[in-house]
Amino acid sequence: MSIQSICCLGAGYVGGPTMAMIASKCPDIQVTVADMNEQRISAWNSETLPIYEPGLDAIVNSARDRNLHFTTDIRSAIANADLIFVSVGTPTKSFGIGAGRAADLRYIESAARLIAEVSVGHKIIVEKSTIPVKTATAIKSILTANSPHGATFQVLSNPEFLAEGTAVEDLECPDRILIGGETTPEGNAAVEALASVYARWIPRERILTTNLWSSELSKLVANAFLAQRISSINSISALCEATGADVDEVARAIGMDSRIGPKFLKASVGFGGSCFQKDLLNLVYLCESFNLPDVSEYWRQVVHLNNWQKSRFVEKIVRSLYNTVSNKRLAILGFAFKKDTNDTRESPAILVCRDLLHERAHLAIYDPRVSGESIRQDLLAAGVSEDLIASNVEICSDPYSAVAQAHALATLTEWDEFKSLDLPRIYDLMLKPAFVFDGRAILPIDALKLHGFKAFVIGKGL
Ligand code: UDX
Ligand code: UDX
Repeated sequence: MSIQSICCLGAGYVGGPTMAMIASKCPDIQVTVADMNEQRISAWNSETLPIYEPGLDAIVNSARDRNLHFTTDIRSAIANADLIFVSVGTPTKSFGIGAGRAADLRYIESAARLIAEVSVGHKIIVEKSTIPVKTATAIKSILTANSPHGATFQVLSNPEFLAEGTAVEDLECPDRILIGGETTPEGNAAVEALASVYARWIPRERILTTNLWSSELSKLVANAFLAQRISSINSISALCEATGADVDEVARAIGMDSRIGPKFLKASVGFGGSCFQKDLLNLVYLCESFNLPDVSEYWRQVVHLNNWQKSRFVEKIVRSLYNTVSNKRLAILGFAFKKDTNDTRESPAILVCRDLLHERAHLAIYDPRVSGESIRQDLLAAGVSEDLIASNVEICSDPYSAVAQAHALATLTEWDEFKSLDLPRIYDLMLKPAFVFDGRAILPIDALKLHGFKAFVIGKGL
């Protein structure tokens, strides 16, 4: 089966960029991204895309209105497609069985019901969202039980491994593409149909095919392993501060062992983003469900350590500022969960700011890409009252206005522009003693000390 028309349900951080790349690499395939959120779709159709990703504008502009379309007409998009990616959100359940750990699959289920209702003929359904193992079976049974026009379906798992901030590079040149399908002739044909789309620009040896469950599980495990490396190095950051070792030097020394490797060993105030914590919790829940409490507990500790690291950072700030930050102005540089994105989901900045606000600090927050409105929304959702936000949060348009008359500055995102801050100017603008809490280990500690700051850098101490 050769694919002529693709649609994707969900125009988010994953669906939007992934479809833009497919459309740009396959000009003969019509690609439609459908989402129920009208505002999001109009943003995709405008000059200001709803998400910030380096290089994305050019890819979208090259294909939009040629073979890349964004629409809220989900039904027609499904009806016209040979292959349907499902990339709707799968948040952690906040209620009922598995609350706080299991994935909430209501959007996946409603997508499957709609696909069943609208489809005619044969369709390939591709799970792009990260989901618990065995979801494909659930999707398949919903599809086959609700198909009034006698449509037939193959369900594939094709997890996305792109990281935000480098999505375009990751899509252009991925380490691997993983496709899981049923091990039947029909399943193999569907896998091959999808593989041949990717093979237009990705070498065949990087396209890995597995059974459905291996593919679904591999996504959770990949994210769990990456997150585990960060929690591991963060646990060592605390030990480094206590002993006088330098965490960057330790990371370099261990990373040169080719069995360990150098990536994902950067100590930080904690990992954020929409995936790591959610997928870890998913894995924890999965292990519990299969009666593997020790395995479950093992992975739970990765999340625990991450939360501990965030609290530890706040405690460090409060203790250093003579045990009180009440009514003190603190400059917060960076709110996104990592650089080069405007995404703040699960950003460590949210909890750090929440806890500092509950200590009655005044926060002057600057982020080059995150709007004041999303910062306020995130704090509100984290349980900070509207009154406290109104009285104690100031959104600044540059780092220098944030640090003016501040007792301390904290870096919470590793934006490149922070690495070249004018440190003497910052020192002059701040109250003395001027404290720096570098949550990303990006500022040169020697220069900070030279200019007179009292500096705490994660993994290096005060
Ligand atoms: C996706 C996956 O959904 C998630 O499971 C995976 O771990 C990461 O990638 P992401 O693209 O970042 O998440 O999510 P988000 O930006 O929230 O986009 C999901 C989109 O789906 C939203 O625009 C939402 O409006 C849309 N949606 C959701 C629908 O169109 N229909 C629905 O029923 C539900
Ligand atoms: C991650 C996975 O990398 C990607 O493969 C998957 O598809 C989605 O989840 P993402 O969350 O976009 O991608 O970004 P990533 O670069 O993995 O960073 C996640 C968090 O870990 C960020 O908060 C980042 O600052 C932090 N991090 C990363 C560290 O603290 N130290 C590191 O060494 C690396």
